[in-house]
Amino acid sequence: MDFVPDYTLAKKQVHEEYFNRYTSAYVVTNEDLRISMNFVPKKCNNALVVAASGDHPLFCSLYGAQHVDTFDVSYNAKCMMDIKVAALNCMDYVDYGQFLEDLHISCKSQSVNITNVKYMDKILQKLPKTEAEYIRALNEEPLFSRGPSPIVSGVLPTFKEYCKLRKKIVKPYDFFLTGISKLETYLEKSYDFVHLSNIFDYVSEGSYADLLLPLMQHLNPGGRIVLENFDDDCGFGLDYMERKILSNVNNSFVLKKSKYLHILERVR
Ligand SMILES: C[S@@+](CC[C@H](N)C(=O)[O-])C[C@H]1O[C@@H](n2cnc3c(N)ncnc32)[C@H](O)[C@@H]1O
Repeated sequence: MDFVPDYTLAKKQVHEEYFNRYTSAYVVTNEDLRISMNFVPKKCNNALVVAASGDHPLFCSLYGAQHVDTFDVSYNAKCMMDIKVAALNCMDYVDYGQFLEDLHISCKSQSVNITNVKYMDKILQKLPKTEAEYIRALNEEPLFSRGPSPIVSGVLPTFKEYCKLRKKIVKPYDFFLTGISKLETYLEKSYDFVHLSNIFDYVSEGSYADLLLPLMQHLNPGGRIVLENFDDDCGFGLDYMERKILSNVNNSFVLKKSKYLHILERVR
């Protein structure tokens, strides 16, 4: 059965800082996805990434994933991702950037009015009915207020990337509405690439292994899981990963470290 949003709860939770079911979504990413998506394996049939602003799945597709499943604890993230895919399919390059910028500015302002944003009406007609009704009902709430300015941040696709995306992304991404702790219960396939950067910052350090080990069972040989750089962010490094995680998987994974990321790669 489709998810039925709770408008009353949404009006309350959208103002909370911690990630929840109705956390305000990022309009564009604050990560450099052009670095982490370089780790999408050459042959990548299935990938799994957070929905966030929609940029994670879009860049994952751009860097070679054939099919991308998405998840997020926030329903607003799913809405933002679907808005972006709809915008991509009905706007030219300049309008797309301006539309995201206008949405960002509206949601950051004191007097939010989402349906007043130019082209929003057209986009809402392309969204699933429940989502369009939800956005209309919460028109004056900052549903999409996180993250940097789309135009200033430099994270919008280039014109060439935009043209590639328009050809490749013709329908919404599949989505699981769940926090990372229950994600594994939704998974029915195995993946070549799983992107978890910036998710583990928000879970308790003691639960890393419990969360990661089940997801590692869903990785194909040659597949990779991208994590953030634990050394820099949380004080956990190779030592922790080796003791708590790699020792549990019979040498079937290796840990690689780049400047910004930890990569768990399944070798057999
Ligand atoms: C962690 S935030 C950080 C923003 C991110 N760096 C970006 O570029 O969009 C990204 C997304 O993760 C979601 N999120 C946060 N904690 C989560 C969790 N425990 N499980 C699932 N999704 C989560 C948020 O709702 C948000 O949409």
